Amino acid sequence: MNWRHVGPFRIGLVTSSVFAVLLSVAAQAQTGLPSGQTLEGLAKEAHAKFKEDNSGKNADYIPALAKVPSHLFGLTIVTVDGKVISVGDVDYSFSMQSCSKVFTMCLVMQESGDKAIYEKVSVEPTGERFNSIVAIEEGDGRADNPFVNPGAIATVSLVKATSAQDRWDKIIGCYNKFAGEKLSVLDDIYKSEAETNFRNRGIAHILYNSGHLYAEPLECTDVYTKQCSVGVTCKQLAVMGSVLANHGINPVTKERCLEAKYVPKVLAVMTIAGFYDGSGAWAWNAGLPAKTGVGGGIVAVVPGRMAIAGFAPPLDKFGNSVRAQEAIRYLAEQLDLSIFGSSK
Ligand code: DON
Repeated sequence: MNWRHVGPFRIGLVTSSVFAVLLSVAAQAQTGLPSGQTLEGLAKEAHAKFKEDNSGKNADYIPALAKVPSHLFGLTIVTVDGKVISVGDVDYSFSMQSCSKVFTMCLVMQESGDKAIYEKVSVEPTGERFNSIVAIEEGDGRADNPFVNPGAIATVSLVKATSAQDRWDKIIGCYNKFAGEKLSVLDDIYKSEAETNFRNRGIAHILYNSGHLYAEPLECTDVYTKQCSVGVTCKQLAVMGSVLANHGINPVTKERCLEAKYVPKVLAVMTIAGFYDGSGAWAWNAGLPAKTGVGGGIVAVVPGRMAIAGFAPPLDKFGNSVRAQEAIRYLAEQLDLSIFGSSK
């Protein structure tokens, strides 16, 4: 280009776009964020690589979950600067199941402080299945941690509420803030689980009997069942996770959902118990705080950088989505995301 023939306006424009690019590169360098293009390329690669993996099986102990089409597979990344990168079936609404437990834990800490969880629920891994009764009996009577079923029901019981409706309104209100959108219960899933959740009702009564459930057992079990039946898309789940990556502020709506000081506590429990009795292998392989649900969702958090959500209904023997974990693990390896340090 012959600069003598370019007017001052053009020069100004060129200079300001160069400046904008430099600014964005600098911002990326500062947050350690890969470019949107890199993330999109890798997300597509991960989706293509694991799309045909048909191993695992839908959960069927909640009958409605067996009917969710097994081929569905979505992957979404939400960065702390609000970029949303999606591949596959990211708009299908599936039940959050145990992914919900993370956000009720957040609500209780926001209302009553982190000690409420630490002292009244406990934060220890069980090494047992998510609905184990043995784990309650073997411990000190507390519910072990907020992500196994006993701990999640105990966490629901700690929500400050004057009635079942009030308890529910607080929980869904909290989830809506994290998602930045209005979420609602998938009625068929709720009905199916409510008709078959005898084991969870038993767990609630055991805890109540030993003084480790802090509200009426059947009310808590029912509200817990409802929270597990909340429908989210893969995109919405990733946005919810990105709040934790972004120190408690929703990067899309910019609304604060959780005080920053509580975020590390949530991530700590996600690390030790997010995959239940598969948490050790997940920490080893992916190195990311994450939470799974038997609906096929997984949400993983890369602190200060991004959240990655995956959705695919077939589960492994621990109750964790096969394809979602493969895809997230692939991204974690390719981008060297482990919170424990580089393996390269
Ligand atoms: O209470 C249950 O069994 C289900 N609503 C949730 C279990 C679950 O998602 C375990 N996670 N992988």
